[in-house]
Formats: sequence, structure tokens, C-alpha cells
Amino acid sequence: MTNFSGSLSPSRVFRDVNVLSPHFVPEILPFREQQINEIKGVVSSALDNKKPRNLFIYGKTGSGKTVSVKRVMELFNSETPQASMQYINCRIYNSRYRILQKALKNFVPELEKSGFGLTFLYEKMIEIAGKGHQLILILDEIDMIKDLDELIYTLTRANDEIKTGGVSIVGISNKLSFKDVLDPRSKSSLYETEMIFPPYTSEQLREILKQRATSGLQKDAIDQSAINLTAAITAQENGDARYALKLLFKAGEMADQTGRNKITDEEVELARKRVDIDLASETIATLPENHQLVLYAISNISLNGSRYARLEIEEEGFLFSGEVYEEYERVCKRSHKRARSVRWYHEYLSDLEMLGLITTKMSSKGVRGHTTLIKLGHDAKDILAIVGKNTGL
Ligand SMILES: Nc1ncnc2c1ncn2[C@@H]1O[C@H](COP(=O)(O)OP(=O)(O)O)[C@@H](O)[C@H]1O
Ligand SMILES: [Mg+2]
Repeated sequence: MTNFSGSLSPSRVFRDVNVLSPHFVPEILPFREQQINEIKGVVSSALDNKKPRNLFIYGKTGSGKTVSVKRVMELFNSETPQASMQYINCRIYNSRYRILQKALKNFVPELEKSGFGLTFLYEKMIEIAGKGHQLILILDEIDMIKDLDELIYTLTRANDEIKTGGVSIVGISNKLSFKDVLDPRSKSSLYETEMIFPPYTSEQLREILKQRATSGLQKDAIDQSAINLTAAITAQENGDARYALKLLFKAGEMADQTGRNKITDEEVELARKRVDIDLASETIATLPENHQLVLYAISNISLNGSRYARLEIEEEGFLFSGEVYEEYERVCKRSHKRARSVRWYHEYLSDLEMLGLITTKMSSKGVRGHTTLIKLGHDAKDILAIVGKNTGL
């Protein structure tokens, strides 16, 4: 077994790194038996050649939605030739056209080539389902589809035309508010059946981590206390199992790099900082330029000290909004950009806060009246380096 740095010396911590990767799906998915059974219940009518009701699954990131549905799909597809579940990641296949093309490719290999019109796809779908096939489309991250109303409309129309088979949807999303933008008719069609995946609790995460540690790590390579800490930290972060696994993986890497043979609380704490920075970096990379420049200004003052806020500072680490705006203007000037108005600047602040990159609060009435106070959510040096790299500052 190679360790993470790629060297061939055997790891004293890891037994099988694949088990800890986000792509690994364990045989048993603890705490999701009920959800898996419910999904089976919905899709099983396809086995009697009845069109299943559409199903909508909601749950926060890392609550096991994708793995659970994929587990049902494996069982389902091995059982029945007259019905099939097709998994579609809508982050990649994000339009009606691409989804239909992807879904029908397995039946009509020539669709691998592009250039077919929507009508052609539509007719193929009717032909396939019309032979008595029950086609179930799993639309993971369904909120990413640009023309979902049109897709649902097309499927509804197809179902009206098809006599013996049918096409139905299992939609998955972690965005609760996305249904508000849907046409009322699509909404009621999509939400025929609804299911919620609750986030994992700290106790449940312990169990999930233990399961992975047993097969992924060397014997006794992790303290019970380190497992508990990983679970507790993750429970605070919305119970995201993916985060828990990342943390475990990183902590193992930390232990390996320092030549230890055991993951302790110390490695978990270090890993947490690393993982948080990695996640922040991913978030920041998707931000428009002005947001990044504001973030840069905040980090810069946080790191190099405030010029005049000290006198009135109320709480460690909070900066005055006005001072940050001035710094933002300087940063813009330096990179030959025009600073946006204060009104926009407040928009940026509120976006940054939503993403957890900063926190803000109102000051109590001081010398200059009420003002917004801003604090960076991460280490200023780290953020400065990330934004600096993105923007060339
Ligand atoms: N009950 C569980 N038992 C073991 N591993 C799980 C469980 N639930 C989720 N995971 C793991 O956590 C990660 C995130 O799960 P995923 O299904 O992708 O979450 P979601 O789709 O809800 O964001 C995956 O690597 C998955 O294998
Ligand atoms: Mg998912």
C-alpha cells in the first residue's frame, strides 16, 4: 500500500485509502435503511409495469441522498429488464436536451453522436417506453437544470402519449427554496411523493466513521476520542458525512506525514483547519471579482492591523465597514479596477456572510453612530493567499 505522499513506504495508519475516498460506497449504509426501503417502495410499482409516482428527495449536503438512491438503482437494475433506473448528474447534464440524450443513450447507441434534434429524442423516448418499458430518471442536483419546467412538461406529454410504459422522475436536491421558481404544474408533478433525509447526528457519524476506520485504517490506528471529536465537529457542520470522511482522511494523512501510527485529537484539529481552508478555497474560486476584492481588503486589514479602529474596537477581530470600504477602493486602484458603490459593497458583504466567509454585526452606538462590523471567518493569511492567487494581486 502506498501512502499519500506517493512514496512506497508502507503507511502505518492506512490500510486501504480507497475506503476513505468520497467515491467508495460501503456495503451497508447505516441509518439509511428506512429511506432506502421507502425509495424501493416508490419505484417497485414499475416491476408490475405501473408507472411509479414521481419522487422528490430533499436533504442537506452529505446526508446520504446520492448513495442511497444509487444503492436502490443497483438492486433495481439487476432485477428487471422491463424497467430501468438511469442516474443523471444534473450538474453536468443541466438541460432538457442533455438529460434526454444521456438517458436514452443506453438504448440508442447512435445518440452518442450529437446533432439530433429534440424531436428525435422525444420520439425515441416514446418508442422505448411505448414497448412497455418503465424508465425512471434519477435527476441528482435537479435544481441545476436550466429548463426544468420544459423537461417536466415534455415528460408529462410523453406519458400522455405512451400506452403501456412510462417515464418518471426521482429528483434530488439540497436546495429547499428552489421549488419556488417552478411553474405550479411542474411543482405538483415533481412533488407527487416527497422524502426528507435528515442530517446525521453526532452519534450516527461516530458509527459511520467507525465503519470506515475499521476497513480503511490499520488496526488501532485511531483513538475512540479522535472519532468522537471528528463526529462532534462534523455535527456542527450540518452533519455532512462527506466532511466527516474528509476530516478522517486528512487526519490520517497528518499522522502519516509526521511518522505517527495513530490518529489522535491533535491530528483531527489540524486536519480541520486544512479541510476548512480547502473548502473556503473552493467557495472563493467561484466568486465574482468584486467579492474577492472585498474579501482581500478584509483580510489585508485583519492581517496588517486597522489604522484607526483600535480606539473604539468592541470585540477582538471586528473591523469597521467604512474602513474596509476604503481599503477595497485602494485595492481596486492598485489593480486598475473601478470600485463599485457603497450600495454594491453592502451586497457583497451580505453574499460573503451567506457563504460563511465573514460574519457581520451592528455596532452599538459609538462615536460615529451605528455601523456594520466585519470579521473574517478564517485565518487572514490563508485567505489573502487564496484571493491573491485568484486575482493576481
Ligand atoms: N449512511 C452512510 N453510511 C456510510 N457512508 C455514508 C452514509 N451516508 C453518506 N455516506 C458517505 O458520505 C458521503 C456523502 O454522501 P452522499 O450520498 O454523496 O450525500 P448527498 O448526496 O446527500 O450530498 C459519501 O462518500 C457517502 O459514501
Ligand atoms: Mg449528492
